[in-house]
Amino acid sequence: MKKIADGVHYCGIHDKDRKIFDQLVPLPQGTTYNSYIVEGSEKTALIDTMYAKFGGQYIDAIAASGLRIDHIVSNHAEPDHSGMIPKLLEMFPSADVLCTPKCAENLQNMLHVDQSRLRCVADGEEISLGGRTLKFYHAPWVHWPDTMLTFLKEDAFLFSCDFFGAHYTKNELFADCSPDLAAAAKRYYAEIMMPFSKFCSKYLGKTQELSPKMILPSHGPVYGGDGVKFIEGLYSEWTSEAVSNKVILAYVSMYDNTALMADYLENSLVSKGVGVVKADLMETDEGELAMELVDAAGLIFGTSMVLTGPHPKSVYAAYLANILRPKLKFTAVIGSFGWGGNLAAPIDSMFTLTKPEKLAPVVVKGRPRESDFRLLDALSDEITARVKALAK
Ligand code: FEO
Repeated sequence: MKKIADGVHYCGIHDKDRKIFDQLVPLPQGTTYNSYIVEGSEKTALIDTMYAKFGGQYIDAIAASGLRIDHIVSNHAEPDHSGMIPKLLEMFPSADVLCTPKCAENLQNMLHVDQSRLRCVADGEEISLGGRTLKFYHAPWVHWPDTMLTFLKEDAFLFSCDFFGAHYTKNELFADCSPDLAAAAKRYYAEIMMPFSKFCSKYLGKTQELSPKMILPSHGPVYGGDGVKFIEGLYSEWTSEAVSNKVILAYVSMYDNTALMADYLENSLVSKGVGVVKADLMETDEGELAMELVDAAGLIFGTSMVLTGPHPKSVYAAYLANILRPKLKFTAVIGSFGWGGNLAAPIDSMFTLTKPEKLAPVVVKGRPRESDFRLLDALSDEITARVKALAK
């Protein structure tokens, strides 16, 4: 257990060995599951709990503290934070769980928590611990419908749940505000928060209104001092409407013809001053692609034909880009086929939630000829014009 302030302690666990989150995004350095204790003069609250995988270690630490837990604040029911609620309710028979109505429903469904132990709090409701007050703000869709933020008023500490989180294990407790941390927070934002960017923007505003002295998320380091502005600044940038002078060129090529087209288009765009992030879909991990999608203006797919449609890797990338709901303004498809089929339509059809403009595809039979390179020149001009206009 680590001290954050008098009567406020960190009792989370670093999971440096975890390789992947949600069975989707690789974790270069694992993650943390944060849990906090807040002591008042009369009552003690535990804010979020622990992923059951580390339940034994966590419960031992709570027991060793000798504290009696009166309230378990569940900011969000996802099991990486709620997993030990049933065990804690056994340990502390008079404790209740404070949460939103939606979270109460989720806790009953996911962990079979008895309804009698759940106490729903209203948006803006306050609970006194004796000399310390917890105020709850419902924050639906940051990132589940059940989410709330908990504000410790007297200390101005905001327990923000997954909001402002990062899969970052390099710091023991407080944020180092390094480029590495910014990258980890961006990877986290891209997968977890970007699909809800409008809600993130709204609750970033709420956070700034509260002027917290410290932001204490449920993954990654605690932001104090300059760290508060650091993480608020990053979220302000990521949730804004602005895109970068950048396109992603995500390609997969079976016999190098599509790779040749991707190289040509990349060189053409770069020569016109457009930033290009080229990603070989056979090697790129989902987290890297998601991070680039946070501020990319466009996404260009380069794909070979497999049987009568695009390579499945490119369809998967399009599916992922769609569900992450990035700011993407346009997409395009380039590629090569051998004997027939439809390359662009199956990729375009993936974009049901995100609605980028679809530029005319450049699809070539076999190895590209001079006339095909002229089509790529025209596509490059179109992309450049759009990116430059967006940058204004
Ligand atoms: Fe870290 Fe949405 O749970």
